Amino acid sequence: MKQICVIGVGYVGLVTGTCFADLGNRVIALDVNEQRIENLKKGIMPIYEPGLEELVKRNMQAGRLSFTTSYKEALKGTEFAFIAVGTPSGVNGEADLQYVAAAARSVAEAMEAPLIIINKSTVPVGTGDWVADIVKKSQSKPIPFSVVSCPEFLREGSAISDFMNPHRTVLGSLDREAAEKVAQLHLPLRAPIMITDLRTAEMIKYASNAFLATKISFINEIAAICEALGADVKEVATGMGLDKRIGPMFLDAGLGWGGSCFPKDVLALAYMADEKGVEPHILNAVSKVNYNQRHLVRKNLDEMLGTVKGKTIGLLGLAFKPNTDDMRDAPSIDIAQELTAAGASVRGYDPVAMEVARTILPAVEMFDDPYTLAKGCDALVIVTEWNEFKQLDLERIKGLLKSPVVYDGRNIYDPAIMRSMGFNYRGVGRGYDVNGNQH
Ligand code: NAD
Ligand code: UGA
Repeated sequence: MKQICVIGVGYVGLVTGTCFADLGNRVIALDVNEQRIENLKKGIMPIYEPGLEELVKRNMQAGRLSFTTSYKEALKGTEFAFIAVGTPSGVNGEADLQYVAAAARSVAEAMEAPLIIINKSTVPVGTGDWVADIVKKSQSKPIPFSVVSCPEFLREGSAISDFMNPHRTVLGSLDREAAEKVAQLHLPLRAPIMITDLRTAEMIKYASNAFLATKISFINEIAAICEALGADVKEVATGMGLDKRIGPMFLDAGLGWGGSCFPKDVLALAYMADEKGVEPHILNAVSKVNYNQRHLVRKNLDEMLGTVKGKTIGLLGLAFKPNTDDMRDAPSIDIAQELTAAGASVRGYDPVAMEVARTILPAVEMFDDPYTLAKGCDALVIVTEWNEFKQLDLERIKGLLKSPVVYDGRNIYDPAIMRSMGFNYRGVGRGYDVNGNQH
């Protein structure tokens, strides 16, 4: 059993801390947000993540997981301190490192014994060295420490399973012994462990996210070409994915990626490249293609309805992906705002993100379920592919809609079935002609 401190109890920190506790370690999770810590002590989660609440409570009860706002308390007797604070986009697309810097300073001021500081936040290449500098300068007396980069690859919505079953653990450090100690913590996860230098580990994280984002933008561009030529992108993706060199994952065409990661990480990598005089041709195109996808809703609804002006449009799904309440850079935000600006009344429903969505989208009228939302709508749009939308009673929905128009932004329905049911249906890249018929 090791004693670990995790700094930041957001999507990554809380999952990391809880999972390490579940693996038998003693974990103290710290945050500067007092409300979050008070709530966690009472068993109230700050985020929605399937399975997390139960795991947090179980490990708190077992005495392996506790919460604090005090760095002194969190670092007492601790050998490992994971930094998992946010690194949002700055004004020019660069990663904003103010929270990492503040955490590093607080660690330096509070540490009383040698420590391994592990960067789990996604940080620009070179940040590990910079963190080491901050810690050295902020210590009141010199106490030995090492910095290890340990990028996180979990996805929201499947975070616990991703953490517990990683494809790999990447560790970067100039101190091999420290990296090996961090490797020991990860041995129970039984994944390949790669130890490299700090900067390379930091780059692996950005390159991985950028590649996944590229795959999605690539298939979305193929979807546009499919649409123009009458081919079906879902079948195309299946056919492509059977080639082991391509693989089937992250080839779902649709309204594109959002969330707290791909958007900011693609931008931050492009910024790093630009800063060094390397033109990020692909990264720039990947972002451009992605944000274009969001305009498809207005464009298609204008074609299907004549105009969206004066029409009532229902958005099914508001979170940036299923199984999360995260609304950061969710496509639904741009889509709702574009429709509202064009004179449509917009309604919304999401299984878990509505509370957050209400504050971000005050002009959107929220409904408690898809059926009350559909009643009187001129069109429905699938924005997020929640499982519950795949099993809707579509006959009932058709009867409730003012006109049976469905724009399926996540390709969850079968176009032939939808059309045979009498829907005026379009998906993304599904091979229809201007009359909505399949080629
Ligand atoms: P988040 O915004 O959900 O949580 C960050 C937490 O850090 C907040 O609770 C905040 O109060 C706390 N915090 C800020 N400053 C602090 C300080 N000085 N001391 C202590 N706590 C502080 O962020 P997140 O989504 O968990 O992301 C964290 C990092 O992990 C980011 O760099 C992100 O890119 C990366 N990442 C995120 C995911 C994901 O799925 N969300 C996956 C992999 C990597
Ligand atoms: C992503 C990566 O998948 C994680 O490996 C990484 O750790 C994380 O970013 C991060 O660095 O924070 P996440 O953003 O939680 O995870 O979710 P994804 O499942 O990757 O989905 C991202 C977006 O892409 C969603 O909006 C989703 O709808 C979209 N997407 C995904 C597609 O449009 N098509 C696909 O085929 C897959």
